[in-house]
Amino acid sequence: MSDAVARLTETPAGVQLCRLDTMADHSARNFVLQMRAGRFHGFIVRSGDRVHGYVDRCPHAGLPLAQRLDEYLAPDGQWIACSWHGALFQIEDGACRAGPCMGQSLMSWPVAVRDEWIVTA
Ligand code: FES
Repeated sequence: MSDAVARLTETPAGVQLCRLDTMADHSARNFVLQMRAGRFHGFIVRSGDRVHGYVDRCPHAGLPLAQRLDEYLAPDGQWIACSWHGALFQIEDGACRAGPCMGQSLMSWPVAVRDEWIVTA
């Protein structure tokens, strides 16, 4: 019998994640949601008053992007970067623009800002 926890790629809408003002502009944060059906791993990038969410899984080899907590951005803060083989993704839509998974995209995780909170959408 396996102890493996199912890895989910979707979350229900309306889950409060954190207040927007607890994330610095141009920063990223990891989130893990434990649900009855399994566990969801994702991350959010804040750009001004907007947030972009993605499932924490690189389309190249299926690994979580960051090897250190919350380190999802390239040093210039302009790209999402995979720490394993250097893929770079657009913050706005998750499209890969450099690296081994060119032409593929991160899986979107719908999130929104409501009443100063970041919530699942
Ligand atoms: S696992 Fe992300 S670039 Fe290879």
